[in-house]
Amino acid sequence: MKVNRRMFLLGSAAATQAFSQSERTVNTAMIGVGNRGSYLLQAVLHQPNAKVVALCDIKPDRLDRAATAAARDNPATTADWRRIIDRNDVEAVFIATPPYLHSEMAIAALKAGKNVYCEKPIGITPEQVRALVEAARHSNKVFVPGQQLRSMKHLVEAVGKIHDGIIGDVIMVKAQRHAPADLAHDGSSGDWYFDMSKGGGYLIEQSVHNLDLCNWAINAHPTRAAGFGGILLYKNDPPGRTIFDCGSITYDYPGGVLMSFTQNVFHPASMPNGGQYVYVYGTKGAADLMQGMMYPREKGARPSVLAEKTQEDQYAHQEAFFDAVVNGTKPPVDIKIGAEAALTAILGTEAMVKQKVVTWSDMGVEI
Ligand SMILES: NC(=O)c1ccc[n+]([C@@H]2O[C@H](COP(=O)([O-])OP(=O)(O)OC[C@H]3O[C@@H](n4cnc5c(N)ncnc54)[C@H](O)[C@@H]3O)[C@@H](O)[C@H]2O)c1
Repeated sequence: MKVNRRMFLLGSAAATQAFSQSERTVNTAMIGVGNRGSYLLQAVLHQPNAKVVALCDIKPDRLDRAATAAARDNPATTADWRRIIDRNDVEAVFIATPPYLHSEMAIAALKAGKNVYCEKPIGITPEQVRALVEAARHSNKVFVPGQQLRSMKHLVEAVGKIHDGIIGDVIMVKAQRHAPADLAHDGSSGDWYFDMSKGGGYLIEQSVHNLDLCNWAINAHPTRAAGFGGILLYKNDPPGRTIFDCGSITYDYPGGVLMSFTQNVFHPASMPNGGQYVYVYGTKGAADLMQGMMYPREKGARPSVLAEKTQEDQYAHQEAFFDAVVNGTKPPVDIKIGAEAALTAILGTEAMVKQKVVTWSDMGVEI
């Protein structure tokens, strides 16, 4: 067990109690063991106090593969996720199913008294987010959305310095998520990803991470959005496709702070300025959040390192979840942050789909 700084400050009695708590086993179940669920399963197996007691997936081959990976713990397997929720011996549930299922599954797990790690986005409609926020509010269990960027040390440091005013007051953010291609049409998630009603679309399913970074840096959620998007390259590809392949959205934040976000899946890999970035502009300078660099505005002033990129612990986010379950520590992401990230993505999507300005209050979710 790692004795963390909080325990040290609490003194030796608390440290002893925390030590004995962390010796206990957290019986854990996984719902959805596809691409991300397989990774999360490895993360859970990596935890000193987690035991994988049950696995669920509707695809038998994936369930078998996961059972083999977790053979050490000899988990039960089922294709029916409600049987996971019904098990009295399950204390923590990991949910990594397609996005349209997250809210319903997480609500059922919270109501059954489970601690929940739920992949992003926590919902793809305002109604799903609202219902989950309500359930989390009435639960005393841990709820952690899978927004692992919040557990990355260099981002925590960089955003902390922005909040401390290193670039002055934040006045604008320019961010993008450009990819050289779509997700593989015959890939692991190909049977739901291209269907707007199951994944929510590129902005909700993928860019929710990037939008969360923008909210984090600005320290607020947007009040309204306007934008346009469409299917400009991958028309009916794959057949029946409903998600956009590009879009451009402008968000308005409290105090007139602006955020401009573009996304596409046809930025050639060989062309510069692709990929993902979050540029944060302040009254004294600007920050390239992902690269951890800071650029003062004065003429001739030299750029400096905002936060050194170090080797990150690949399972830090899942460790934080178990730390919260076992030791009561505050997790880096909670229902509020997860809901605000999902709703920011939903807001932008609704603006693009409806082709009008949509306000935060139009979504009708009290957080
Ligand atoms: N945090 C991250 O960086 C990250 C990365 C990748 C994916 N994800 C998220 O993880 C989730 C899953 O994505 P994926 O790429 O693993 O997709 P996937 O299709 O590979 O896996 C989803 C799994 O859920 C199973 N499933 C579907 N319906 C089910 C049901 N009713 N009951 C039980 N199992 C069911 C599927 O059979 C599949 O194996 C998505 O929300 C995605 O956004 C997060």
